[in-house]
Amino acid sequence: MTSYQIALIPGDGIGGPVVDATWEVLGAAARQGGFTLEGTRFPWSCAFYRETGAMMPADGIATLRRFDAILLGAVGWPAEVPDSVSLHGLLLPIRKNFVQYANIRPHRLLPGVEGPLRATEFDILCIRENTEGEYSGAGGRVHGGTADEVAVETSIFTRKGVERILRFGFEQARRRRGKLASVTKSNAQKHSMVFWDEVTEQLAAEYGDVEVTRYHIDAMAARMVMAPESLDVVVASNLFGDILTDLGAAIQGGLGFAASANINPDRSAPSMFEPVHGSAPDIAHLGIANPIAAIWSGAMMLDHLGEAEAAAAVLRAVERTTAQGIGAVPGRHKTDEITRAVLQAMG
Ligand code: NAD
Ligand code: IPM
Ligand code: MN
Repeated sequence: MTSYQIALIPGDGIGGPVVDATWEVLGAAARQGGFTLEGTRFPWSCAFYRETGAMMPADGIATLRRFDAILLGAVGWPAEVPDSVSLHGLLLPIRKNFVQYANIRPHRLLPGVEGPLRATEFDILCIRENTEGEYSGAGGRVHGGTADEVAVETSIFTRKGVERILRFGFEQARRRRGKLASVTKSNAQKHSMVFWDEVTEQLAAEYGDVEVTRYHIDAMAARMVMAPESLDVVVASNLFGDILTDLGAAIQGGLGFAASANINPDRSAPSMFEPVHGSAPDIAHLGIANPIAAIWSGAMMLDHLGEAEAAAAVLRAVERTTAQGIGAVPGRHKTDEITRAVLQAMG
């Protein structure tokens, strides 16, 4: 029997409950699919930081490298550890070290879920660059505390980085409805974003069968609200993709529904699966976190591992659950109730 080694990092806040829920559902999918998932839990989190002074051990990345995939809940507990410390100590180094350059985030309405828009027939696949750009961490501050203080944040865009994410987007578009939207702010940002446009045009010549449209990020934000059905694959830089995918989550009914896969397409290191949402400190102890975003991310993990049938079974169970109204309305059902319903729908 095929067995997969999965690293589980629940993290902070609602990360724990949504990872637990996902793990139960994936266990059922594995039993039905005739494979096994062996999970190893890592308590790396803000609580771990307070005990040890680090978000993960010094050999954390080396430890994770041995796994077939990583399932993560959420990282961040800003009341106790600054986000700049916790995220740069755990989540972001995993994405970067494992060259998970393609962050895939699907945005569509699950059956029974009422979004805030009149439009209901949209199916958007956001592809977010996940290793460089505005998240490079380069920069610094001078003249600290004086009236002349300056803070510089340098975005780094490499040809390799831009080309590979756009190529990934073109390939996805080819497999879907053949449309690619490339998002920049090249009217205002004259180096990186003009460069991005140039690479887009170069690749467009190679992918004659894909219809390419360039959008500015501001116009794209409006389009996702006004005409989401006009979009297929949307490719954006790290920061722009981050913002657009919370917007994508909103139009699909909320952050409780937005799934995400951090993919290393070359498979030279493990990929990581996590919901779009964070640790949600405001609801962390109420037992009402919607586990669907995490469960859907888990289905994406099964698909990545080559268990496409099991992945489809999980997504079908989620769809049957929301179609019955369970988990469809934010706050109405408890995490446990939604999880039980998905398990029941698995049969
Ligand atoms: P958040 O996504 O945690 O929460 C935003 C809002 O959405 C909150 O009102 C929250 O209650 C709600 N929400 C989120 N997920 C939900 C779910 N599954 N079910 C029901 N409601 C849900 O964003 P934030 O408040 O800006 O961030 C909180 C912490 O999480 C910060 O430390 C932040 O840096 C971190 N964060 C981590 C990740 C990650 O690990 N990938 C992602 C985003 C934010
Ligand atoms: C996400 C999150 C992270 C990001 C934060 C927590 C660093 O918002 O996964 O969308 O910006 O990538
Ligand atoms: Mn985000």
